[in-house]
Amino acid sequence: MLKSLRPRPASRMALFTRNFFRHPAMLGSVIPSSPFLINDMLAQVDWRRARVLVEYGPGIGNFTEEILKRMSPDATLIAIELNGELAAFLREKIRDPRLHVVQTSAGNVREILARRKLAHTDYIISSLPFTNMPLSVRNHIIKETRQALHADGVFVAYQYSRTLLPYFRSCFSSVQQGFQPLNFPPARIFSCTP
Ligand SMILES: C[S@@+](CC[C@H](N)C(=O)[O-])C[C@H]1O[C@@H](n2cnc3c(N)ncnc32)[C@H](O)[C@@H]1O
Repeated sequence: MLKSLRPRPASRMALFTRNFFRHPAMLGSVIPSSPFLINDMLAQVDWRRARVLVEYGPGIGNFTEEILKRMSPDATLIAIELNGELAAFLREKIRDPRLHVVQTSAGNVREILARRKLAHTDYIISSLPFTNMPLSVRNHIIKETRQALHADGVFVAYQYSRTLLPYFRSCFSSVQQGFQPLNFPPARIFSCTP
């Protein structure tokens, strides 16, 4: 199902790093997430019940490919990427009928779901650098995220600090935490339910 025309890892990394130096606040990290962090984040998903998934900030697709490997054949993955070069890269390199790459801000998640006649999403997996964003943008994304989630849905996000924990707690009814030291920088994982 997943036909990934993988470029050499070095060129993928170069694409990511080049975009970091062009847009440091948008990228938020100089290197992509480690496989350890990806595994911990995706362990939060119940793959049997995940029918509609959304990914925020797929970058060069390191989470995207792992999500596609794990998700069922009839599930849908919508990957929302703000950066035009990265969105074009993903469309070209990951050919899978279950994947839809949309170049826009994560704040438009509900509009994107509605366009596909989807009422809600079961999971939102986020790599967004929330602490680098203007407050109004962050607040808008989180408000839309909450409303986009199914009542049993889960928002799974990593951050490099606990700065946003009180904010997540104020927006979601439950927030579970995890920590992955084998990532640069070490990352906090937050699983939030509406
Ligand atoms: C830290 S990188 C994560 C890349 C990859 N998922 C990983 O974890 O290695 C953050 C990504 O979020 C994207 N991004 C930043 N703000 C965004 C927004 N408002 N909506 C969608 N994507 C955004 C950036 O372009 C970048 O690809």
